Amino acid sequence: MTAGANVERRKREAAQRALDLVEPGMRLGLGSGTTARCFVDLVGDKVAAGLNVRCVATSEATAAQAKARGIPLATLDELPELDLTVDGADEIDPELRLIKGGGGALLREKIVAAASRRMAVIADATKLVSRLGAFPLPVEVVPFGLAATRRHIERTFADLGLAGPIRLRGGAAPFVTDGGHYILDCSLGAIFDPERLAEALSRIPGVVEHGLFIDYARTAIIAGAESVEVLDRPA
Ligand code: A5P
Repeated sequence: MTAGANVERRKREAAQRALDLVEPGMRLGLGSGTTARCFVDLVGDKVAAGLNVRCVATSEATAAQAKARGIPLATLDELPELDLTVDGADEIDPELRLIKGGGGALLREKIVAAASRRMAVIADATKLVSRLGAFPLPVEVVPFGLAATRRHIERTFADLGLAGPIRLRGGAAPFVTDGGHYILDCSLGAIFDPERLAEALSRIPGVVEHGLFIDYARTAIIAGAESVEVLDRPA
């Protein structure tokens, strides 16, 4: 089997294990990205077999997939409190701090995760890192004042001793999020103090949200070569 096929198989294994957390009657948040997509497919199979759940999607793409699979969907306004959200991640550190947003859905993902009593993150083992930052940190920004916001972000990084290229996703034809915003992908290499960086980014006008998810994931379900491991956030 190729390395790519192995990764795909592991995503499905992690998604399969996450189904154990789903109980009849639950209000579920459905994540975005290729790993979450596997989970949505499995929930679709369960719904077809009679499982009663109501779901909120974290992106238009996930909503379309869920609808096609016959999964009952609601808005977050209709279901402002969810029992469980299952989502993927781009990086996961030992404290279950995450980088998310590689697929561009970080804003809705964070809103949905924050509305959930529990967030479980599912991933293949390549997403586990000892320190966050090798994956470029997505920062969602308002198109108005982009250059000024970008300079503000650069200054903030410098103040924190961080540096690295900042790229507008999509370049000349910018990627537009479901919320109508742009994404700056910030290649920082290593983030030594994610909490401090998260706070500093949140203070910048024009930054809508950033891809650091701290204190969100309670559980990580990680599929490796030999087995699927369930990690719980240290207290
Ligand atoms: C979507 O915006 C992201 O947060 C995804 O959850 C993350 O990029 C992981 O995606 P994959 O499962 O496709 O790697």
